[in-house]
Amino acid sequence: MLSFKMQIAKQLAKATNIDIQEIQKYIEKPKEEKNGDYAFPCFSLAKKLKKSPQEIAQELKEKIDLDINIIEEVKIVGPYLNFYINKKTLVKEVLQEMQKEQEYGTSKIGEGKNIVIDYSAPNIAKPFHIGHLRSTVIGAALYNIYKHLGYNTIGINHLGDYGTQFGKLIEGYKLWGKEYNIEENPIDELTKIYIRINELCKKDEKVLNSCRDNFKKLEDGDKYCIEIWQKFRELSLKEFQKVYDLLGSSFDSWDGEAFYSDKMPEVIEILEKSGKLTESQGAKIIDLEESGINTPCIIEKTNGSTTYATRDLAAIIYRARNYNFDKALYVTSYEQILHFKQVFEVAKLLGLDEKYTKGLEHVPFGMVLLPEGKMSTREGKIVKLEDLLTESIKRAKHIIEEKNPELEDKDEIAKKVGIGAIIFNDLANSRLKDEIFDWNTILNFQGETGPYIQYTYVRCKSILEKEKYIFNIKEIEENLIDEYSQRIFKLIYNFEDTLIQVTQKNEPSILSRYLIDLAKAFSSFYNENKIIVDNQQIKNARMTLTYITAEVLKIGAKLLGMQMPNKM
Ligand code: ARG
Repeated sequence: MLSFKMQIAKQLAKATNIDIQEIQKYIEKPKEEKNGDYAFPCFSLAKKLKKSPQEIAQELKEKIDLDINIIEEVKIVGPYLNFYINKKTLVKEVLQEMQKEQEYGTSKIGEGKNIVIDYSAPNIAKPFHIGHLRSTVIGAALYNIYKHLGYNTIGINHLGDYGTQFGKLIEGYKLWGKEYNIEENPIDELTKIYIRINELCKKDEKVLNSCRDNFKKLEDGDKYCIEIWQKFRELSLKEFQKVYDLLGSSFDSWDGEAFYSDKMPEVIEILEKSGKLTESQGAKIIDLEESGINTPCIIEKTNGSTTYATRDLAAIIYRARNYNFDKALYVTSYEQILHFKQVFEVAKLLGLDEKYTKGLEHVPFGMVLLPEGKMSTREGKIVKLEDLLTESIKRAKHIIEEKNPELEDKDEIAKKVGIGAIIFNDLANSRLKDEIFDWNTILNFQGETGPYIQYTYVRCKSILEKEKYIFNIKEIEENLIDEYSQRIFKLIYNFEDTLIQVTQKNEPSILSRYLIDLAKAFSSFYNENKIIVDNQQIKNARMTLTYITAEVLKIGAKLLGMQMPNKM
């Protein structure tokens, strides 16, 4: 597609004799529509050219000769030069791009680059809770968006299937296994065992020590411990799969923490050779004081067991070698900020190419606050995700039944709406913000929600269907230069750019906000204009606009992980 920004940069570079790359960096998008589509802040060159911004603006305006078919108008506003793009060219460009074979907004920008995304990662024998849901949803959205931009993406579910908690569970199972029906209801029952053994550990140091020994035995390959561990793992995964099925999640790799059990000796060896590994109260640690991190990274515990951090270090080596990643993203709650700071710092000692340590990036997100407050497994205050998702579907169905009782396939639609509502809610605001979970907001068809996006899409679809619309872009620019149509075309023109912005900040909410803006722009258009009118040309133009809006809403929603119903 024609880059308006590039055209402006080219002219400005010529007029100022400044490198086009540098000029491009200064070009902005004005906040207010009346100030045009692009703006050049002339004060950014004042020092360099030793002139006042006003003088520069005046001079530049005279010097540049822009093609009127690309830029319609250039205005000076204070120290700014404001550019207005040609409306008809905008329409033509977008529609031509829409006609192409590949899905709209795809790109070559990521070609040849590998992105590893580590997300979801629930813990075996513990509930798949609402924090893991956020990780699953944010991770999947990033995965889809990178992929759309041409990156080679690798999605990894780094399952929490290892660690001292298994020592505890094995001990609890040994003591009371017969009392619990873990085959039938694995997570619930294992959680009960876990809570009970934790209580006992608090009271009895001896039990705590046996738990620690169990994990050590598991690491050393003890047959009995491995057998029980495997059973916990299989039963848990079967239950997690129910949630993944509801969400439509899939992963390229399920290598969890246990996968690295035989890969940790290498980590320890390298760290030992680095001379940075020191002993502290019987444990092996890396002091990070010099790097401004006050808490040392524990590599091996007093009893010789490895840690969560050691497994992450082994994973970094493995992923660098096997995926040759340009970026490796870790999507977890902000509670793990310190963990990743430590791990990334220690990773610099692993002797890997600098490319890999530079590519490591933690993508933290805020808590989900349910009305009852934060949840914790140890205290047993848990909201099960599967219940939450089915509850949302149930509520969506109830709303649909009230609004549109005649609808066919209500269950299918309720599933798309109920799940879409939860996914969108997770992505609606900047990820670091804590999220307040409130059914009334999440499922509000008129609010800034998933159902609102779906509803707008369904509206577009029903207009198109009524008129049996076929994509036809002949001579329609004329009728799409009004304010409301232009707003939609500008948004759609910026779709790919929006996706690029998502990857720059690893912030899917940029796309969620965009979809809300697009849906709102369509509603405004629809309120101002009749679409089905007698004049065939106007009708075709407006239907085309409706069609491309529906297309982009659908592609965007799919990238976020939502499915569109055809009716609702
Ligand atoms: N299982 C961990 C948790 O529930 C998340 C794992 C994140 N990924 C990683 N490579 N550490 O907190």
